[in-house]
Amino acid sequence: MSTTAVGNLGGVASPETLASHIGVSVLAMGGNAIDAAVAIGFALAVTFPSAGNLGGGGFLLYRHPSGRNVAIDFRETAPAMATSDMYLSKDGKVISGDGGPVDGYRACGVPGSVAGFEQAWMRYGSGRIPWSKLVDPAVQLASGGFSMPHSLQRSLSLSMDRISSDRSFQTMFLSKSIVGWQPQRTGTTIRQPRLGETLARIRDRGAIDFYAGTTARLLASERNGGMLLSTDLAGYQAVRRKPLSGRFLDFQVLTMPPPSSGGIALLQMLGMLEMCHPLPAAYSPAYIHLVTQTMRRAFRDRSEYLGDADFVDVPVDALLSKLHIRSLKRGLSVSMNVKTDDLPATRPLVNESEQTTHFTVIDRDGGVVSTTYTLNGSYGAAVISENTGIILNNEMDDFTAKVGVPNQFGLIQSAKNAISPKKRPLSSMAPTIVADASGHIRIATGSPGGPTIINSVLHTVLQAAYFGVSVHDAVAAPRFHHQWKPEVLQLERSLSSARASLSAMGYETAVRSLGDVHAGSWNRTGGVTMSSDPRGTGEALAE
Ligand code: DON
Repeated sequence: MSTTAVGNLGGVASPETLASHIGVSVLAMGGNAIDAAVAIGFALAVTFPSAGNLGGGGFLLYRHPSGRNVAIDFRETAPAMATSDMYLSKDGKVISGDGGPVDGYRACGVPGSVAGFEQAWMRYGSGRIPWSKLVDPAVQLASGGFSMPHSLQRSLSLSMDRISSDRSFQTMFLSKSIVGWQPQRTGTTIRQPRLGETLARIRDRGAIDFYAGTTARLLASERNGGMLLSTDLAGYQAVRRKPLSGRFLDFQVLTMPPPSSGGIALLQMLGMLEMCHPLPAAYSPAYIHLVTQTMRRAFRDRSEYLGDADFVDVPVDALLSKLHIRSLKRGLSVSMNVKTDDLPATRPLVNESEQTTHFTVIDRDGGVVSTTYTLNGSYGAAVISENTGIILNNEMDDFTAKVGVPNQFGLIQSAKNAISPKKRPLSSMAPTIVADASGHIRIATGSPGGPTIINSVLHTVLQAAYFGVSVHDAVAAPRFHHQWKPEVLQLERSLSSARASLSAMGYETAVRSLGDVHAGSWNRTGGVTMSSDPRGTGEALAE
């Protein structure tokens, strides 16, 4: 399996091999980056079920070869029945388990992926590849089956405590032995017949089937304590947004606006770091310390100011103004560790997994798609709709269930992100494209990882744009993460040698792997270079 691929006719980097192959075959047929991204998105819903989805949502950032750009926001929305205190028990605690924001039908927001992909294809596809050709490979994989890869077997085994009691997970992905349910063995053919039927309807009739046709009716008829009504589905709309566009050195940085927090945080951190130029040597303790200080500050703003800007006032321009960034940078020094306030550390962050997924496509003309989409937790709400084979998301946990109480990613959020019907939960997903003045793509990047997404993206952008390394080296480079609260600096193992110096500066550190980046670069003479994260099991391909 290759993690880096070079070519002249375009390329893809995705977290799963079959989906990557489908993507490059669309490019080879004359499709553009959007066409290929749509085909990959549907394929991952079958072959990468922990995060690929029809039942979730996400963001797609597109830069046309001319430089025009758009963000398609197909984030889930809260159903009409949702209320701001719906996940609080009588004694005011956030409900855990079934009925809470993480597990079961009640955790599910109105899915956006199918609407997002259709809108992308209709508005920005090449016009050369029919919709049915882009969805059909996924139909074949779901109905005809595919051989269970080791990575899927492993990911299922990590989620057994959540998924093993669901009948559809049992039928399609598990087998029963004397010790109980276990994932099917590597190499077993995995068929998802109901999902195949659903995909075939979407292939033949389009997104209307999902939101107002047979699939909508089937989904809404299976309430099981959840909130999804057919009117929620019928009312869902993917939204086109203007990407945030900032400058870093001589580069244009295109990234995701609210309801993502990722773009704002990324531009704030890049802004502070540019003011610190020249930066200390990459990955020296001084560098880790300086960048961490910017992470703390950007995440503090995230927690205070951000939510769905269609519902609450988000002062985007003020947050990104030079004035604010200069004031954020105040007190930032290479020697002094100004800590997060005295609030005690909350529960530890979850370990790395395949809960969200990112993929990047670049076509021969330099059209770029950077997409991050998700079910939120691994396998979302850990339930599959029996009628449709669709895994339901648990995106409702990205809202503030209760101010001051951390969500599953340890994030403390404000009332700006409170639950309200039709509102989108605040996200950290941050598909990003960095271009130079001649329109060459220095890096198109993104990652899964909840709040760590923002910092994984920051590291790849700094590596490619500031330090000038290749896309392969930018993706492979070490990562670290701080999110203001809890007061802990997470470092990858390769940075372990810096731990002693950082501890001496007062840092509490922990070691974990961060992110699964799938990125690419392009220039007119050299073509594309695509790179899949060596930390994951994805594949980069180019023509
Ligand atoms: O939108 C968000 O920020 C989260 N739902 C993303 C979840 C995620 O990345 C989990 N991945 N490991």
